Amino acid sequence: MSADIGLFEAMNTQRAIRYLKPDPVPEEMIAKLIEAATRAPSGTNQQGWSFIVVRDAGLRSKLGDIYQKAGRAAIPRIRYVEAVNKRLFDSAVYLVDHLGEAPVLILPCIEHSGPTGLTTGASIYPAVQNILLAARALGLGSVLTTFHKAYEGEVKELLGLPENVETAALLPVGFPADGVRYGPTNRQPVDQVLHWDRW
Ligand SMILES: Cc1cc2nc3c(=O)[nH]c(=O)nc-3n(C[C@H](O)[C@H](O)[C@H](O)COP(=O)(O)O)c2cc1C
Repeated sequence: MSADIGLFEAMNTQRAIRYLKPDPVPEEMIAKLIEAATRAPSGTNQQGWSFIVVRDAGLRSKLGDIYQKAGRAAIPRIRYVEAVNKRLFDSAVYLVDHLGEAPVLILPCIEHSGPTGLTTGASIYPAVQNILLAARALGLGSVLTTFHKAYEGEVKELLGLPENVETAALLPVGFPADGVRYGPTNRQPVDQVLHWDRW
């Protein structure tokens, strides 16, 4: 495993890595990702989360097919990105056809007792971010994806998820492909988004 990096370096350089090597990821690394996830906050500390780690090639391939079906349908909706950020667009399109080739797919899931919304997500996305930061610290690549949500029912059936459990994201995880690097990320300046006291 690579040496620990500082938290702020991890936050400043963690970015979407969609080109991944097919090499297996050591189980102890995956365990660290999930451990990091379980340190996250959740509403009233309910920790209604589960993390499905898919390594089985057949299941990865089927999830890849679902992601491809959803992603190809979504491409026309995100076509505008091509003009704004071609590298982002190209890598997202690449992943649509290659997600199932990632050696590990992680699906963070959240239990719920009815219709889900922003606050349901608030109890699982901190855990997702911890996974992304831990992956960065360990020299792994990943990206938060959600295209598969268009076929949530198919994903749930494939993985045997109970009725009251919903997937929050589908994270391909692996070592970054040769030449693929972490950040710095491209984000708005702080003074464009910071409001002291009032809007
Ligand atoms: C809610 C959410 C949904 C996303 N869904 C997808 C997705 O389905 N496919 C994909 O390739 N990237 C997806 N992304 C990744 C974003 O495109 C990426 O985080 C953003 O462009 C910033 O990229 P960067 O960290 O490389 O700068 C998603 C990110 C978020 C936060």
